[in-house]
Amino acid sequence: MKKIAVLTSGGDSQGMNSAIRAVVRTGIASGFEMVGIKRGYKGLMENDFITLDSRAVGDILYRGGTFLQSARSEEFKTEAGQSKAINNLKEAGIDYLVVIGGDGSYRGAAALQQQGIKTYGLPGTIDNDIPLTDYTIGFDTTLNVVTDAIGNLRDTMSSHERVSVIEVMGRSCGDIALHAGISSGVDAVIIPEMKWDIEEISKKLVQGFENGKTHSIVMVAEGAGKAEDIATIIKENTDLDTRATVLGHIQRGGTPSAFDRVFTSRMGYNVIELIEKDISGVALGMETNEITYHTFEEIFNHEDKVDKTLYKIFKDLV
Ligand code: F6P
Repeated sequence: MKKIAVLTSGGDSQGMNSAIRAVVRTGIASGFEMVGIKRGYKGLMENDFITLDSRAVGDILYRGGTFLQSARSEEFKTEAGQSKAINNLKEAGIDYLVVIGGDGSYRGAAALQQQGIKTYGLPGTIDNDIPLTDYTIGFDTTLNVVTDAIGNLRDTMSSHERVSVIEVMGRSCGDIALHAGISSGVDAVIIPEMKWDIEEISKKLVQGFENGKTHSIVMVAEGAGKAEDIATIIKENTDLDTRATVLGHIQRGGTPSAFDRVFTSRMGYNVIELIEKDISGVALGMETNEITYHTFEEIFNHEDKVDKTLYKIFKDLV
């Protein structure tokens, strides 16, 4: 019986558990033996492998986080680390490796593929910063978490006639800020991909209060600046009572959305199909509602661009 191993790597995201479950159950249904690797590439180098039967992935579909746990590993980036990993995979008789993670995890998977291990990537990150997929695993859930948090902040900001500057995650990608900004009807979105002018934003906020607004919300992506700094400048420019909130890791928690559960179930199914066809060295994604795949190199050579139309939509709706 051929063996497939699965691991989660890098920052966790909601839907990783659902993805593991889909890979494991579809794999079993197709006649493979399934193995889980704990704590990502760290566990791979330390031989931390567990057998996964169908029951082992029960009761996890609706849980955030990853029951296999995750880690970021500097050692795995070295030749020595990778050769430890390859030896462990060979000794355990693993034929295929499915890596659920973001860009850094894909780089590790591509390095293993080059050294003869058949690898597959599933885009597990809340940041939505992986090229050639419209969505990454957890992005939709994070948007819902952020949208709820903005609702809570709006209540208290309204009572005190304040400006709320909210910082969200995303590394150098502004997708969380832009999408949550639209879903929450905020007053300004500051993202690294687009030029922004704090004087113009300040003027707009003052105008809003003059027109009877009881609160204002400014979203800032972590890659564009710090909420505290932006709040200080706005306060100096406008004299409006301004508060900064960093949502932080709360954005990575919570039960995965229905979208993330279905999306990951589809990808689990599709990755097993690719394994059966013996196509490897690829990562899966979703483009215009189709599950697609591209080689790691294609993904690395493709720039993940912000959706400029969506930014224009935001500007038109403010
Ligand atoms: O890549 C996911 C992410 O949550 C980023 O948005 C954020 O910058 C980073 O991870 C935080 O990393 P850590 O959990 O190691 O603090």
